[in-house]
Amino acid sequence: MRLSVNIDHVATLRNARGGTHPCPIAAAHAVLAAGADGITFHLREDRRHIRDADVARLFAEVDTRLNFEMAATEEMVRLCAGYRPQACCLVPEKRAELTTEGGLDIAAGGAPLRDAVARLAGLGIEVALFIEPEARAVEAAHAIGAQAVEFHTGRYAETGDADLRRSELDRLRTAAALAEAAGLLCHAGHGLTYDTVGAIAAIPQMEEVSIGHFLIGAAVMEGLPAVVQRMRREIAVGRGG
Ligand code: PXP
Repeated sequence: MRLSVNIDHVATLRNARGGTHPCPIAAAHAVLAAGADGITFHLREDRRHIRDADVARLFAEVDTRLNFEMAATEEMVRLCAGYRPQACCLVPEKRAELTTEGGLDIAAGGAPLRDAVARLAGLGIEVALFIEPEARAVEAAHAIGAQAVEFHTGRYAETGDADLRRSELDRLRTAAALAEAAGLLCHAGHGLTYDTVGAIAAIPQMEEVSIGHFLIGAAVMEGLPAVVQRMRREIAVGRGG
């Protein structure tokens, strides 16, 4: 199963100071060198993390499976069509949300969503729709011509209730089997951690997980000892020690 690392929150950290550090493109190279199979980024309408210049650099400098996550707006479809990534994932986007809160309502997306899928797929881009793990959404994704679905794993991954987690996992398993039967590729993502990824990896139809926030947070926590030790050494050298 492929691991696509979402680098949005490297950009969030960078943007907090308005400079160039940490660099999401350097982060992309680092995660690929460490064994990731691809990079995901979400260019939001408000550019709150990844920005247009980051996207341009990713396409120019990073040779991997790039997954362009985006709302199905005219602006984003035009940008994505210009870059022609291997893959894109259409997501619902609300201005005020902290992160993508739920799957797409495909019926409500109507003709604009159908047109976006057709335009992008027509360019040879693998188009995924980010959906809830439910039969209706799988059928709708198939009906509008998507090649893949990415199941929203938030309810499964974020609950503290063991019964709810089990029932959400069952929903994911059932939805993945339905998607496979409909000829759709299956991806999963949102809120996944060390503790919750294993059960998703055990679902045979899942071809890709996309993980961002937890990995960037874990990189901070697991990386702190090494960077503090390095800073101590630099201070010691400065003192002539
Ligand atoms: N997949 C999609 C479609 C998403 O919108 C997100 C969140 O941006 C993710 C995966 C990754 O979720 P997380 O950052 O919680 O790992």
